[in-house]
Amino acid sequence: MFARTFAVFVAFAAAVSATTVTLTNNCGYEVDPGFYPAATASDGSSTGGFAVAAGSSSSVSLDSAWSAGGRIWGRTGCDASGTCQTGSCTGGENCTAPAGSGVTLAQFTINAWNNLDFFNPSTTDGFNVAVTITPGTGCTTGPQACTASDEGDGCGMTSSCPTGTDYTISFC
Ligand SMILES: *[C@@H]1O[C@H](CO)[C@@H](O)[C@H](O)[C@H]1NC(C)=O
Repeated sequence: MFARTFAVFVAFAAAVSATTVTLTNNCGYEVDPGFYPAATASDGSSTGGFAVAAGSSSSVSLDSAWSAGGRIWGRTGCDASGTCQTGSCTGGENCTAPAGSGVTLAQFTINAWNNLDFFNPSTTDGFNVAVTITPGTGCTTGPQACTASDEGDGCGMTSSCPTGTDYTISFC
């Protein structure tokens, strides 16, 4: 009886903590999102980044490591080895560290406290591509964007949503 109750609780907790982030590339060129710490790709593998073709979307989920905060950024002008004109990282295509300066950030802290996520688009490290974070169902916060250095509705401002909200990050 106890074991069954516990199993149900664990399943429920796991369902609540899975945060899906959909990366939508509205640019007319490939963007290679980078993740630090690693995210979980749709095939279940750990990923530090991959290519998203112009006009395409791809989804990842953010696990409990993101409760300590993390960042997603778009890399541009990447070659096959993952060396990019902007946003390059250690690890090539599959980042194992954050990018240096010069990139627009989408910062997330998932389930920070009180069952809340905190997030913001930011140009404190620079600007390379417009980034909009749009919360999904269950959160009333509107899209938060950096459209240029320190410009855009919510650029640099921290917003919150209930943990369990999914997000879309749009490039361009
Ligand atoms: C990316 O790196 C992670 C380790 O951080 C590894 O588990 C994963 O298999 C790598 N993915 C690819 C596509 O190489």
